[in-house]
Amino acid sequence: VTGSRARSRDSVDSLRSLREPQNKVTVVLGAQWGDEGKGKVVDLLAMDADIVCRCQGGNNAGHTVVVDSVEYDFHLLPSGVLNKKAISFVGNGVVIHLPGLFEEAEKNSQKGLQGWEERLKISDRALSNLALLFFCVVFNFHQAVDGIQEQLRQQQAGKNLGTTKKGIGPTYSSKAARNGLRVCDLVSDFTVFEEKFRVLAGHFQTTYPNLNIDIDAELEQLKGYAERLRPLVTDGVYFMHKALNGPSKKILVEGANAALLDIDFGTYPFVTSSNCTVGGVCTGLGVPPSHVGRVYGVVKAYTTRVGVGAFPTEQDNDTGDLLQSRGREFGVTTGRRRRCGWLDLVLVRYAHMVNGFSAIALTKLDILDTLPEIKIGITYTVDGKPLPSFPANMDVLTKVQVTYETFPGWCCSTEGVRSFDELPSQAQSYICFIEKFLEVPVKWVGVGKSRESMIKLF
Ligand SMILES: *[C@@H]1O[C@H](CO)[C@@H](O)[C@H](O)[C@H]1NC(C)=O
Ligand SMILES: *[C@@H]1O[C@H](CO)[C@@H](O)[C@H](O)[C@H]1NC(C)=O
Repeated sequence: VTGSRARSRDSVDSLRSLREPQNKVTVVLGAQWGDEGKGKVVDLLAMDADIVCRCQGGNNAGHTVVVDSVEYDFHLLPSGVLNKKAISFVGNGVVIHLPGLFEEAEKNSQKGLQGWEERLKISDRALSNLALLFFCVVFNFHQAVDGIQEQLRQQQAGKNLGTTKKGIGPTYSSKAARNGLRVCDLVSDFTVFEEKFRVLAGHFQTTYPNLNIDIDAELEQLKGYAERLRPLVTDGVYFMHKALNGPSKKILVEGANAALLDIDFGTYPFVTSSNCTVGGVCTGLGVPPSHVGRVYGVVKAYTTRVGVGAFPTEQDNDTGDLLQSRGREFGVTTGRRRRCGWLDLVLVRYAHMVNGFSAIALTKLDILDTLPEIKIGITYTVDGKPLPSFPANMDVLTKVQVTYETFPGWCCSTEGVRSFDELPSQAQSYICFIEKFLEVPVKWVGVGKSRESMIKLF
């Protein structure tokens, strides 16, 4: 008896010490209003990743990745799905539009994407008791509701939120209202699912009498999708736990949208419905914070914004037009023309406060190639008084005055430049200023569309 007690004591003693987490996830996040070129950074890191994850958002996000001059568009699939050696994982924080998912896979398959079904895993929260996180399904009627809500906003306030009308907002709303349906519901007993679906559809029809839902047709379609989805579904928390605590693995998390579109930290109410800052990695995947490793912020060398809302460094003139046309600033998801302006470091510094960037990827520097003079916004003032940080109140943000630092342009092409030293000295100064201002190193500088055009600084 004494012997066995001593042995069990020994085994506990070996546990009683603080240990460093085994594997950590590397995170790539947008640091402005989106469209920073996250896809390119993700693609670069995904080349030698073992797992690439999405933790939030839905098919409202858009990444374009160019490989061997083929342009792939991703909305829901992690763009890491291009890597044949990596598993792509869609976490519980993501909202999935099923027709969209299969359509997207199909489109990219036609361009050359192969074997994605074997490499794609989708989280299912049914098997865990810790059902704090939901995995909602964007049904077609959420898309219809989104459109109606936008119309109402238009009539009431004369302006809308500028959503992508992909039903993301209404889906996250039903998640919070706890009548959302998750992937686990869809792939288990379909008759039970059908009941729940009819209740949810009824709820929406009561709320929006104009809504026209053909419930039977929807169900028929969903049944087909459920069959195709089933083999991809996995217990997400268990999947991530094994990945984090097993043998050494490179795990990448690709953020969708961006810091200033975050539901909590963004320019509310002109934001998306998910958590686009670093906390979303934990809640959207079921990853403990101690396993969050490097966090890379993707910053475009200037600023763009889609839709309405305050935009302090916007250049509504030739400068903006030049950035818009040279940068081909049209939305991947919506085709909408993006508003353009100078780089705003007050805003990026704020994103850094929330996310704690380890380093920055500065993208699309080449778009500035032809400008004789380039500006960076460094301070906001209201009534002559500088603000200490980024304002929460949009009425304040609308009236801030921006103080700029002016830089001479380089007026030559950076296309084909492959090292920091080869960059014109004016471009080098521009980069160094950003690093000093943010106190964050720039790790990559993008000067083109291809993978090779991401210059690595260290
Ligand atoms: C985002 O974070 C908030 C906390 O502010 C949380 O309540 C919410 O559930 C999260 N949203 C999503 C969609 O994960
Ligand atoms: C361009 O437009 C912005 C406002 O959109 C303005 O602040 C700026 O002075 C304009 N620049 C020039 C050169 O006219």
